[in-house]
Amino acid sequence: MTGRPLPVPPADIGLVALAALTGAVHQSRIADMIIIGHRGAAGHAPEHTVASWDLALDMRADYLEQDLQMTADGHLVVMHDDTLDRTARGEGCRGPVIRKTLAELRGCDAGTWFNDSFPDRARAAYAEQRIPTLDDVFARYAGRARFYIETKNPEDAPGMEEALIAALTRHDLRPRGNGDMRVIIQSFSTASLRRVHDLDPDLPLVQLFRARETSGTIRRRLDDYVGLVHGIGPQYEDVDDRLVEEAHRRGFVIHPYTVNDTAVMRALIARRVDGMFTDFPDRLATLLAR
Ligand code: G3P
Ligand code: CA
Repeated sequence: MTGRPLPVPPADIGLVALAALTGAVHQSRIADMIIIGHRGAAGHAPEHTVASWDLALDMRADYLEQDLQMTADGHLVVMHDDTLDRTARGEGCRGPVIRKTLAELRGCDAGTWFNDSFPDRARAAYAEQRIPTLDDVFARYAGRARFYIETKNPEDAPGMEEALIAALTRHDLRPRGNGDMRVIIQSFSTASLRRVHDLDPDLPLVQLFRARETSGTIRRRLDDYVGLVHGIGPQYEDVDDRLVEEAHRRGFVIHPYTVNDTAVMRALIARRVDGMFTDFPDRLATLLAR
């Protein structure tokens, strides 16, 4: 899609000056703003691997993002694409994830594609990186990270929401009441969010919106999500002042994706968003002086 440029504050305006310009409420929003490590720190390391999530935490991400896919034998694995072709290497490591068993996926290498695609960014061989299950992620990070989990293509994987709730239960990550923000569930599918809500109404939900939407098309539907979601996740180019204002008026947080350019981060901070998905958590952490 063609990018619609966001108005960018002058590059020499620091955050302190920006906060002074925009008032106390904005200062508190900056303090509360969350850094969502998109697929970990996917700008620096192969997405959805331990290498990427470890780095995101080192870079002060508040949340680690995961995209869920389901295997042929009903296991939840963390992978963005519904096929193995882009980010997996090894014998038999091609084709739809949903047609592979977990045992088949365990042999795939999830790291070396990054070395080939981004040789300038690769700082390690990454050959040891494997496709993680959601259980693997929880076992490694529960207690020291928060999770921002997307049900990906849930219409193609019946039972994904039940499997997700079961994994949260196994790792004692179900909310301990309304307001427990250790886990946020996101989806482009409202039906999937409703299923999650039916299974556990205390889980905070975020409705994602496709890049083809606009501020206007999103605003017209905001009332549909009242009582269901904690917030909305639009593509960053769709965020304008009216969308932020109308989201906040309904009590929603707004977390644009996927923001990698520092100037755009500054513009979105000035617009008073509540957090951002980024492949470069270090850039946003530096802007927020963390
Ligand atoms: O989940 C927010 C953002 O990640 C949505 O886009 O395609 O990167 O999952 P995608
Ligand atoms: Ca995602």
